[in-house]
Amino acid sequence: MGRQLVQSANVFFSPTGATRRVAKFISNGLALRPRDFDITLPAAREKSVPLERDEFLLLAFPVYGGRLPKLVREFFAALPGGRRPVAAVVVYGNRAYEDALLELYDLCRDKGYEVLAAAAFVGEHSYSHVMGQARPDAADEEQARFFGFSLRQALMGEGSLSEKFLLAKSRRPYRPYPPKLPFVPVTSRRCAGCLTCVKHCPVGAFADGDPKRIDAEKCILCAACVKLCPEKAKSIEDDEFCDDMAALAAANLDRKEPVTFLP
Ligand SMILES: Cc1cc2nc3c(=O)[nH]c(=O)nc-3n(C[C@H](O)[C@H](O)[C@H](O)COP(=O)(O)O)c2cc1C
Repeated sequence: MGRQLVQSANVFFSPTGATRRVAKFISNGLALRPRDFDITLPAAREKSVPLERDEFLLLAFPVYGGRLPKLVREFFAALPGGRRPVAAVVVYGNRAYEDALLELYDLCRDKGYEVLAAAAFVGEHSYSHVMGQARPDAADEEQARFFGFSLRQALMGEGSLSEKFLLAKSRRPYRPYPPKLPFVPVTSRRCAGCLTCVKHCPVGAFADGDPKRIDAEKCILCAACVKLCPEKAKSIEDDEFCDDMAALAAANLDRKEPVTFLP
């Protein structure tokens, strides 16, 4: 006797949109109509997530410094626990996902969730238009849909995922968080005051809703304001950071393919 396929929910954090798209493609393959819990904006993380008993959860988060974003870890504390089937998905910028997927697997297990499957997909890098350019693309979409389709089979069965598959690429203790960088995006004269950046900031970092004043304490450098600005008025100008990103991009031009783990 397999599990009952009744309800499903997608929970995702996606400042620059790649993770949201990957979650959607997977759901399309799964052929269930999920309830979406987009926790990108601060207000959404303040609400409780009313999960149904036995509801299938697709959890999808970007990779930050080979880990999950800190605020995703914090958000997990507020998620209801209990035995329910989940798929754990991370999306990374064509460099590496490192410990993020194992970290997500562990968070799920700590909640009592049963991890059926896991995957790492690629999205265009938040800091680059070259690393993972325009991904997820059509080939990624096909793989994500197929992963969703396979998840459906996994849900019908009894098995769950062994951590040994994840330990091939990731380790405990996880790598430390990278240090907080001492700068924020700058705003050029092109800013037309449309407030797209203010509305999409996942941490409410714009002081008094002013598109030119970013609170350095709050900013997590997710680059949502840089990538979403219709006037391209935001950029990161720190010389050392730009040099590091150029070197990182040069070293990661090869196409990384999605990896999926099923029972
Ligand atoms: C602070 C920060 C750290 C990141 N660290 C990594 C990393 O370690 N490896 C990687 O391949 N991509 C890294 N990225 C890129 C994102 O994982 C990637 O662009 C992802 O698609 C962003 O998801 P989103 O579009 O849903 O926001 C990082 C991005 C940010 C903003």
